[in-house]
Amino acid sequence: MAEDDNGYPGARAYLPSARDAADLEGLRAAAMHCLGCPLHVGATQTVFGSGPATARLVFVGEQPGDQEDRRGQPFVGPAGILLNRALRDAGIDREQTYVTNAVKHFKFTQDGDGKRRIHQTPDQRDVVACRPWLAAELRAIDPDVIVALGATAGRSLMGNDFRVTRSRGVALPWPPPGMAAPDRRQIVLVPTVHPSAVLRADDRDVAYAGLVTDLEVAARALAESA
Ligand code: URA
Ligand code: SF4
Repeated sequence: MAEDDNGYPGARAYLPSARDAADLEGLRAAAMHCLGCPLHVGATQTVFGSGPATARLVFVGEQPGDQEDRRGQPFVGPAGILLNRALRDAGIDREQTYVTNAVKHFKFTQDGDGKRRIHQTPDQRDVVACRPWLAAELRAIDPDVIVALGATAGRSLMGNDFRVTRSRGVALPWPPPGMAAPDRRQIVLVPTVHPSAVLRADDRDVAYAGLVTDLEVAARALAESA
């Protein structure tokens, strides 16, 4: 396998064989030992997706934050609390969904006194290195609807030119035409903003309402696929 120019092989080198990769628990166990890119060095642990393998709806965020990195679970910090509320308001039961991230290790810088870890947005190289885990999760679960939460998830799932702001709240075919695999059925992807963007918005109420409206589009797409 070609090595990335940072000398790391990417997640693909750590994936189980095709047969074992159909099993979500096997994937999770393998991902715990991933050294596919430099992000594992500073982070506490791999934060793999969470939720039942039978989920029909999958949420994809960016990467674990500070609390997720400590606790080993996706979306358990402030963004996760907001997401839970938005799911409830959109009539979606989080227990029946699978929640994961485009990148499985926390990328951060230390502030001056080294006490606070400051989130760094993963770049395209991080996303590409980690994408085999996300692709394998989606194959193992085979959901009917995916929600991309924010730009990083959107680019990982739809390609680097994808702009969430242009297509948010629209039910799109996935995989997109250029990324279709012959053995892959077409499902629906709904892009929306990242819950952290709602927390940072000048008008939080408007931003929150927009998120809920987009999640309602996903809920309808799910109902239509049943
Ligand atoms: N933000 C994300 O994108 N994912 C998490 O798991 C937490 C915060
Ligand atoms: Fe592996 Fe992804 Fe972690 Fe990089 S971020 S070490 S590719 S799990």
